[in-house]
Amino acid sequence: MIISRIRSVSFLRPINNYRSYSYKPISRPQINSLVNKSYIDKKLNKFTLKEILKTKIEMSGPLTVASYMTEILTNPESGYYMSRDVFGQKGDFITSPEIGQIFGEMIAIWCLTEYQKIGSPLPLQIIELGPGRATLIQDFLRVFDKFKVSKKLTIHLVELSPYLSTMQAQKLCYSSSKMDQESGLPYYQTGETLGGVRIFWYRRIEDIPKEFSIILAHEFFDVLPIHKLQRDGSCWKEILVDKDPTDVNKFRYVLSRNETPVSKLFSSMRPNEKRNHVEISLQSDLIAQQIAERIESFGGIGLIMDYGHEGEKEDTFRAFKNHQLCDALHEPGSADITADVDFKNLKNILQTDDKVIAFGPVEQGTFLKRMGADVRLEKLLENCEESEIENLKTGLDMLINPQKMGSRFKFLSVFPHVLKDHLDKFPVMGF
Ligand SMILES: C[S@@+](CC[C@H](N)C(=O)[O-])C[C@H]1O[C@@H](n2cnc3c(N)ncnc32)[C@H](O)[C@@H]1O
Repeated sequence: MIISRIRSVSFLRPINNYRSYSYKPISRPQINSLVNKSYIDKKLNKFTLKEILKTKIEMSGPLTVASYMTEILTNPESGYYMSRDVFGQKGDFITSPEIGQIFGEMIAIWCLTEYQKIGSPLPLQIIELGPGRATLIQDFLRVFDKFKVSKKLTIHLVELSPYLSTMQAQKLCYSSSKMDQESGLPYYQTGETLGGVRIFWYRRIEDIPKEFSIILAHEFFDVLPIHKLQRDGSCWKEILVDKDPTDVNKFRYVLSRNETPVSKLFSSMRPNEKRNHVEISLQSDLIAQQIAERIESFGGIGLIMDYGHEGEKEDTFRAFKNHQLCDALHEPGSADITADVDFKNLKNILQTDDKVIAFGPVEQGTFLKRMGADVRLEKLLENCEESEIENLKTGLDMLINPQKMGSRFKFLSVFPHVLKDHLDKFPVMGF
């Protein structure tokens, strides 16, 4: 599969040496041609992603897969997440919190237990990275409210999508407002729930106040851009996305002629890598470092939940449309694109310099069973309508069954390293 995707060297013959990974020079497009009507989605009156990508490639050569992903998912005008609801039966994929309330409730119970075990420090911030439809945080808040903790906390959501952040505010808040661009405030939207919990929206985790925080990331790391690298003899080269010379409407994978800055960095950092093909996410590494620094300096607990592997997989980059796997280069922007999270690397990055201690990854099914999801199902069944019984049962089976989402999805928990002895005595629940 890897071989068929790459290496089309004829188009990439180097002409001179002035760039470290040079390509056949191409004439730069006239600026005027960028505003040509054919580049514009006539219905929406904005540039289509396909044209944005083609123009970028014409101007500076094939794109890294990371740049391709960034454009597709979060281009401010046309990115996949930026202007629509892509979740659920009618969307392209469904996530665990959307399958049933038990998921969010178990996460909340876990957080509450671990938070109380370390003395319930205040003030408490709940941070969620990439909240989607805000279903997880809604179920979470209901539990915290029941246990009378919600009065003492604030919620901080990191979300790039204007569409989703509006939808999240409508779902969670009794009232909300957007900030002026010139407000000078670190958040761009704020609101309050019916129960009086303040919620703030940010574009970057570093803008959130430095306080004790519970940090949640569910299906967040898998959308962060990856670089795809391939061993070539004694060095590493990078797989890039190029225009397909045989069809103006298509893109194709090519292998960089030489090492790239990222492949050189990778060779120096991982001289003992055994695989021939790897996917690395520099943005994930950076966010993992920020989580570790925050938890070490200001206290906190992290829970990272995603599909992934432990450093053994090679090629996981893919797309989903209407719940079906599809080609990530076909009709860019029409499908979700994603890659498995490398939990081994994530854990290594988090634990660098002993700032934090991480537990797991454990499989989602194992975690939910250890948290008592079966018992919660029984309780819900006692009180639900006849018509809901089947949904509740199949929902939990979907989350727990190893043949379904139970083993592909994994959980990693993060604590300040100073708590190591304490956590040896009172082990982390579910791990
Ligand atoms: C796959 S969805 C997961 C949504 C939700 N956590 C769930 O499990 O249902 C990814 C979420 O991350 C957001 N997102 C994607 N890239 C982001 C980035 N670089 N920074 C912040 N949010 C991002 C998307 O808009 C979306 O809300």
